[in-house]
Amino acid sequence: MIQSINSDNTIIKTENLFKQYGYGTNSITVLKNISISINKGEIVSVMGPSGAGKSTLLHIIGCLDTFQGGSVQILHQDISPFSYDELSGFRNKHIGFIFQMHNLMPEFTALENAMMPLLIKRQSYTKAKQKAFKLLEHFGVADRANHRPSELSGGECQRIAVARALITEPDIILADEPTGNLDRKNSDILIELLLKNCVEEGSTVVIVTHDQYIASKTQRVITLIDGTIQTDVNN
Ligand SMILES: Nc1ncnc2c1ncn2[C@@H]1O[C@H](COP(=O)(O)OP(=O)(O)O)[C@@H](O)[C@H]1O
Ligand SMILES: [Mg+2]
Repeated sequence: MIQSINSDNTIIKTENLFKQYGYGTNSITVLKNISISINKGEIVSVMGPSGAGKSTLLHIIGCLDTFQGGSVQILHQDISPFSYDELSGFRNKHIGFIFQMHNLMPEFTALENAMMPLLIKRQSYTKAKQKAFKLLEHFGVADRANHRPSELSGGECQRIAVARALITEPDIILADEPTGNLDRKNSDILIELLLKNCVEEGSTVVIVTHDQYIASKTQRVITLIDGTIQTDVNN
């Protein structure tokens, strides 16, 4: 009984996930039968040395990359048979991705950048603007709303990129070293505000990080080494 309740709550599930790049003697195995299960609303960090396969795992969960073996279920859907278009449709609907580089569009203002995902989804301009402004307020950058990225600091740009990732209220937020380019102070502000928003919204979050302090703020820490799970512990 308890097991069936738990499995209903599972939002990300990989079983014996296997991934290699290249073919034959030139191939490199990056993920070696990874089995993880993450529940709705869980806030998880993934740590491990460079080259361990952290980004690859996040990209597969985020429907940005494919795999050769095992299975991946996101929101109870087996994504392995999905075509490229189906993967990108599923990703746009359910997943918000935050990268180390903010990738804001330089010709648009902070507000326009944050609004963009809703405009792409053909939501009304007024509603998109209101929602984007609210998020910029949450992230303490509302006073920068009408500035372009070149006029903003790295910390401000990253907070706007996070607002952009959250604006569609995705079920799952995936962040790949989101504070990798930030100093301690900006890193702490970003993570605090990101986690506050995700807890309020009940979103599921997976953050890849090298930062022990960030990991300590999450509920669960998975450590990957050489394509295998070394440890998986609750904080
Ligand atoms: N597109 C690719 N082609 C070939 N090898 C790759 C590719 N992407 C990543 N790799 C290799 O896969 C391994 C894991 O990479 P990655 O997932 O980026 O690790 P991490 O994020 O933990 O640093 C590394 O050895 C890397 O060189
Ligand atoms: Mg990486």
